[in-house]
Amino acid sequence: MRQNQPKKTVASTIKSVKPLVIATWKTDLAVETAAAYLAKGASALDAVEQGCRIEEANEKGQSVGKGGLPDRDGNVTLDACIMDEKGNYGAVLGVKNIKHVISVARKVMEDTPHVMLVGEGAEQFAVSKGFERENLLTEASKKAWEKWKIKSEYKPIINIENHDTIGMLAVDKDGNISGACTTSGLAYKLAGRVGDSPIIGGGLFVDNEVGGASATGLGEEVLKTVGSFLIVELMRQGKTPQEACEIAIGRIVNKPGKDFKNFQVGYIAVNKQGETGAYSIHQWFSYNLFKNGENKNIQSNYFNKA
Ligand code: GLY
Repeated sequence: MRQNQPKKTVASTIKSVKPLVIATWKTDLAVETAAAYLAKGASALDAVEQGCRIEEANEKGQSVGKGGLPDRDGNVTLDACIMDEKGNYGAVLGVKNIKHVISVARKVMEDTPHVMLVGEGAEQFAVSKGFERENLLTEASKKAWEKWKIKSEYKPIINIENHDTIGMLAVDKDGNISGACTTSGLAYKLAGRVGDSPIIGGGLFVDNEVGGASATGLGEEVLKTVGSFLIVELMRQGKTPQEACEIAIGRIVNKPGKDFKNFQVGYIAVNKQGETGAYSIHQWFSYNLFKNGENKNIQSNYFNKA
C-alpha cells in the first residue's frame, strides 16, 4: 500500500459524485429537470420538488398528478411527501383537484407546525396558499375507469404501464440529501385508501447523515415493512444501498406464506458517499440515475427470477 496516500473522507467522495439524482421508473425529463436545478446551485430540496412537478403535470402518466387513474368512485386523489436534509417532513394525503401536491407537501413542511394534512383540509390549505383547483380526471383516465367499472375487479397490476409512483432522491453541491414522493395511488382503490407514498418511512425516508430511500409499487406491502426507513437504517449499520434494498425486498417476500406473484414493489436508495442501489420483486422495474453528468434509465435487478 502506498504511504502518505490521502485518506478518503466522506466529504471528498461526495464531491466526486454530486450532483446526483435517482428516481423510480423511466423519468428522464423529471430527473433532467432536477439535475438542471442542481447544476444551477439549487438545493436538493428544490431539485426533487421541481423534478416531481414534471411528472405531476404529465397527463399521460396515469399514476401521478393530473391524469392519474381515479378511485372506484371516479375521484382522482393524490398523495405526496417531501423530506429535507434537516429531517423536516411534510405530506398531503387524499387530495382532490390540486395537481402539484408535492409543492403543497412542501408548504405543509415549511409553513405549518404540522407534518400531514388530509383530504378537504389539505385542499383548502393548498387554495389558501395560491394553488388553483382543476379537474384532474382526464378523458383517457375517465375512459379507463369506465372500462374497469364493467367488471369492477380489484387487482393490482404488476408494473402498470411500466410506470408508477415517482420517488426521487437528490444530492446537492453541499452533499445534502433530500427526497420527494408523489402518486395517485392504486388505480380504482377504495375511496379514502392511502398507500405508502406520503407516509414517512414508508414511501420515503431521508437521514442526511446516512442517505435516503424511496419506494414504488403496492403501498400496503411497503408500509407493513416500513421499507424506506428500514433501508436507511440498514445503510446506517454499514450495508451498501444495494444490499439494503435487497434486504428490504427480502422482508416482504420471505414472510411465511406470502404470495408475491401478483404485486410489485421496487426500492431505490442513495448513501452519503453517493453510492446507489435499486431492487424489486419482479422484472421491469427501472429507475433513472443522473450521475457524473449523465442521465440514464437502468433496469433494476430483481428477486423473482423463476
Ligand atoms: N406506491 C403507491 C401506493 O401504493 O399508493
